[in-house]
Amino acid sequence: MSGFSAAWLALREPHDLRARNRDVLEAVVTAFASQISLNVADIGCGTGSTHRAVSPHLPPGQRWRLYDNDLSLLARVASRADVVTVPLDLSHDLEGALDGAVDLVATSALLDLVSAEWLERFATEIAARGLPVYAALSYDGRVELDPADSLDDKVVAAVNAHQRTDKGFGAALGPLAAQTAIERFEQLGYVVVQGPSDWVFRPSDREIQTETLTGWAAAAREIGKLPLGELAGWLKRRSDWIAAGRSTIRVGHVDFFARPIGKR
Ligand SMILES: C[S@@+](CC[C@H](N)C(=O)[O-])C[C@H]1O[C@@H](n2cnc3c(N)ncnc32)[C@H](O)[C@@H]1O
Repeated sequence: MSGFSAAWLALREPHDLRARNRDVLEAVVTAFASQISLNVADIGCGTGSTHRAVSPHLPPGQRWRLYDNDLSLLARVASRADVVTVPLDLSHDLEGALDGAVDLVATSALLDLVSAEWLERFATEIAARGLPVYAALSYDGRVELDPADSLDDKVVAAVNAHQRTDKGFGAALGPLAAQTAIERFEQLGYVVVQGPSDWVFRPSDREIQTETLTGWAAAAREIGKLPLGELAGWLKRRSDWIAAGRSTIRVGHVDFFARPIGKR
């Protein structure tokens, strides 16, 4: 178990799909437009949402290998001839996902979980193999809540502090991950196309708003700097606004496509 339930991944998938940055995805599509066969390694695949989002845009002749350490999520990946699932702990065996026939490394909502050390290993191992990377939906710490509440800033600060705690790779980069990765790939001689992929939850998106805010309250409680009663009051006020159809939430994410100069 990774702590990411299949139900949560299913709830966020349509919002992720809508949020993906069009220009970044277009850069990926253009890079592989003339390729007759394409091997994609999707790391931290969950139930396969990256494959579902990206494969319709790429040419036929794709073969995907989907890597995750959560067996219950991998078991939910739809069986297809062109998709192979591989149980693998990326914190130890990253190289196992990069070796062999790989034309593109793809990932979604993973990089904000990893540590600076792991990201450095990821970038150097990828650069050593001259591989392009499409990394979507890394949380970047920006949050806009409407209506505003006087406790919002403190809760978001606690959430962002929680994002920096260990998620299995050492102290996580959290909101810093995407920018750190982009800068590192540029240093390694990559061309990077990047853009925002924010979630925008409308008043009618009640379920995901409720799940997101409940998760944030739990994260803030774990950080332990806010009195429990204040946190409960904040969640109640925000839940009432959701129920009344008055709540909108923007959650900042970043997508990027990094490819080695002179390749593709
Ligand atoms: C936020 S979910 C994203 C899943 C999927 N990419 C998506 O966008 O729906 C993060 C994924 O990373 C996986 N993960 C976390 N730590 C991992 C590790 N050490 N090795 C392999 N996968 C890991 C989790 O199991 C989970 O499926």
